[in-house]
Amino acid sequence: MEERLERITTAIRSALHEGQTNWSIQFLTAKDPRFTQAWDVAKQIPGWFEEVNAVSQFLVIADLRPRCIVEIGSYLGRSTVFFAKTLEVLGIDGMVTAIDPHTGDRQHLENLGISELPSLEMFRSHLRATGLQDRVQAIVASSHDAVADWKDPIDYLFIDGWHSYEAVVQDGHDWVPRLDDRGVVLFDDATRISDVRRGVDELVADHTICLYGDAFGQAFAGRRPDIPPSVRTVLRSFRPLTRHIPGHRTTR
Ligand SMILES: C[S@@+](CC[C@H](N)C(=O)[O-])C[C@H]1O[C@@H](n2cnc3c(N)ncnc32)[C@H](O)[C@@H]1O
Repeated sequence: MEERLERITTAIRSALHEGQTNWSIQFLTAKDPRFTQAWDVAKQIPGWFEEVNAVSQFLVIADLRPRCIVEIGSYLGRSTVFFAKTLEVLGIDGMVTAIDPHTGDRQHLENLGISELPSLEMFRSHLRATGLQDRVQAIVASSHDAVADWKDPIDYLFIDGWHSYEAVVQDGHDWVPRLDDRGVVLFDDATRISDVRRGVDELVADHTICLYGDAFGQAFAGRRPDIPPSVRTVLRSFRPLTRHIPGHRTTR
C-alpha cells in the first residue's frame, strides 16, 4: 500500500514538473518572440541546455543587456551558441567568453566509466557552422586556471563546469567577485545534482552570493540582495504548478 502511494506521489510530482515546464515555456516565450531566432540555432547542437533554461535566460539577458558574458563549461557549444546568438538578435554589442578544458562532464564520464572525453573539435566546428566565432572567445583551460588572467567586469555569469561541491564553491569564490554589482550569476543543475546544491548553499552561507531563487534546475543569484525584475518574472513563472508539489520551494 505504502509502495503504491509512493509511486503515485512520484508520478504526480513528475507530471506537475513537466506541466510546469511546458507552461513556463509558453508563458516566457510569449514575452519576447525574438527568443525563437536564437533557440532555433542553438537547439541544433547536442547538449544539456534545455528550452526552458534558454527562454528564462533570454529574458534576463534582454533585461540586463550584458556586454560581457562568461560561461564556465561549454561542452559542444549549445549554451555558448545560444548566448552568442541571443546577443546578436538583441543587438547587444557584447562577447561571450567560453571557458572549458574540454575534458568531459563529471556525470557523463562517471556514467560511461571513462576519465576523459574531448569536445574541443566539435565545439569549434559548431561555432564555425553557426557563424558566431566573432562573438565568442574560447579559453581552453579549467575555470580555476583561467581566473588568474581575468581582468574585465562580468555582467552575466553562467556556471556549468565540474559538478562537485568543491568545484562549485571554488568557481563561486574565484568568479563571483569579478561579477559586476548589478550582474546575475546562474548555477546550472543546482537543484538536480546534490553536490551542486550543497555548493550553492555554501556560497549563500558564506555571503559570496545572494540567492534569488531556483527555477528549472537552475539557481539565480547575484551580489546584491535586490532581485532584477526579469529574474522575478522568471521565478514567478515557475510557481503555478510547482507550488502544489509537497515540499517544493523556489528558495532554500
Ligand atoms: C554540463 S557540461 C556543459 C554543458 C554546456 N553548458 C551545454 O549547455 O551543453 C560541463 C562541461 O564542463 C567542463 N569542465 C570540466 N571541468 C571543468 C573545469 N574545471 N572548468 C571549466 N569547465 C570544466 C567539461 O569539459 C564539460 O564540457
